[in-house]
Amino acid sequence: MQNLPTADTYQKEVKYMPWGILVSEIIDYVTKNVPENASVVDLLCGTGNLITEIQKLRPDIKFVGVDLEGEYIEYARHENPKVEFITADVLAWESEVKFDAVLCTGGLHHLPYDRQKEFIKKISNLVGKDGFAIVGDPYIDSYTNETERKVSAARLGFEYLIATIKNGAPDDVIKATSSLTDNDVFLVEFKDSLKNIEPYFKDVFSYVEKHKTWPTVESEYGDYYFILRV
Ligand SMILES: C[S@@+](CC[C@H](N)C(=O)[O-])C[C@H]1O[C@@H](n2cnc3c(N)ncnc32)[C@H](O)[C@@H]1O
Repeated sequence: MQNLPTADTYQKEVKYMPWGILVSEIIDYVTKNVPENASVVDLLCGTGNLITEIQKLRPDIKFVGVDLEGEYIEYARHENPKVEFITADVLAWESEVKFDAVLCTGGLHHLPYDRQKEFIKKISNLVGKDGFAIVGDPYIDSYTNETERKVSAARLGFEYLIATIKNGAPDDVIKATSSLTDNDVFLVEFKDSLKNIEPYFKDVFSYVEKHKTWPTVESEYGDYYFILRV
């Protein structure tokens, strides 16, 4: 059962959470690196924020957005009537075509741990010739047992909340950020460590480029994205 904020609160999160840094770097990379009239799919696209922002800079791109949440897809369609938004479970959704870029931001950790490896494989199958994928998520510190996993999840949540409050977030965004700790500790969401996930990328992509966007201090936990080529 997903525990998601309303579409309105969700739209504001990117402005106040550290996550916004990662999103803006990905917008920059995609706008500068896909060819003219490229096809781009955004998996677990939420309210379509990433697509909307890239489209402002590159109106030539043809987008497809896929998400399970009806309210978010309705919001996305309203904001972007020309884009094809599909309400579907990404694990079941199939595409006959491949894409110049496959994007997935903050999505992987919404899938159960035992489906994440196959989803990364699925992403690699959607990347067309000379194309790339970008997968960005928050990661928790490595752990070796369930108690340590809960502690790692709590630590990420605590630091995230402090950073969001310091960024001047309004109360609805603070509340939504605070609920992420519950989601992570009690496995409503499935954030994992780099140690567990990075090998999945290395298994199916020949090129794996890792970027950390938050925090700037030395840490294992934090927001990371991977630029991937088959
Ligand atoms: C944290 S949001 C990320 C949204 C967006 N990519 C972004 O960066 O703003 C996670 C999204 O995953 C969607 N989601 C969760 N499980 C899904 C599934 N199995 N198939 C499709 N979407 C799913 C949720 O509805 C939610 O919109």
